[in-house]
Amino acid sequence: MARIIGGVATSHVPAIGAAIDHGRMGDAYWQPVAKGYEPSKKWLAEQKPDVVFLVYNDHASAFSLEIIPTFALGCAETFPIADEGWGPRKVPAVQGHPDLAWHIAQSTILDEFDITIVNKMAVDHGLTVPLSLLCGQPAAWPFRVIPLCVNVIQYPPPTAHRCYMLGKAIRKAIESFDQDLRVVVFGTGGMSHQLQGPRAGLINKEFDRRFLDRFATDPEALTRIPHVDFIREAGSEGIELVMWLIMRGALEDDAKEVYRFYHVPASNTAVGHMILENKRAA
Ligand SMILES: [Fe+2]
Repeated sequence: MARIIGGVATSHVPAIGAAIDHGRMGDAYWQPVAKGYEPSKKWLAEQKPDVVFLVYNDHASAFSLEIIPTFALGCAETFPIADEGWGPRKVPAVQGHPDLAWHIAQSTILDEFDITIVNKMAVDHGLTVPLSLLCGQPAAWPFRVIPLCVNVIQYPPPTAHRCYMLGKAIRKAIESFDQDLRVVVFGTGGMSHQLQGPRAGLINKEFDRRFLDRFATDPEALTRIPHVDFIREAGSEGIELVMWLIMRGALEDDAKEVYRFYHVPASNTAVGHMILENKRAA
């Protein structure tokens, strides 16, 4: 059977992708971030996942305001890299896992989550930057990737609680798939940041640290944070943190924190990162 061996929560700051692509991670500004992800690269290489289930949001690359799916599950064989204005990032195309993705679609929809099935989707920095941070610059990504794209762009996004419960349904789906696969779940986005308006540049280290503490040991407390509190405390783009809760819901309740990294600033945002391991699935 397929099993979830661990989870990775990470920011997906687009400027990090640009810094990696242009060989700038050795610069004084980016060095702390590069260093902070070194242990994570090692961890992921040791885990040897067959599949990464990656929760992220699209930034008007694959979806415009014409169609706004709340949860869009990528079931395609491959996902091309989106052109976000400067040409697609020069990173490998993403290979999907259609059999497992369709199984997850069936299981979660029959469990009453209204997932949108997507058979054609370009993937942007929300998905590729986490892969670059955790894998470097390989000729091909070393695992298949199933993208789950979540609407955190246009109000109303899903609630923290809905995301956490979807994570649990995804875990049930993955664990009932009859191939022997090692799966790592990524939850990406956040932490506190606001990109526009009078509060542009807002970073709330206290909120972020509290969130990280609870994320490891008491995620249910985080599922009770209403949208307005995410926005008030973590800025308008801090709402991306609900995507972390899909990953957390997909892990065991007592999953063990094995790594944490927090750094401010990275392109006007707080970079937050945590790795958790399931105790029973290794
Ligand atoms: Fe984002």
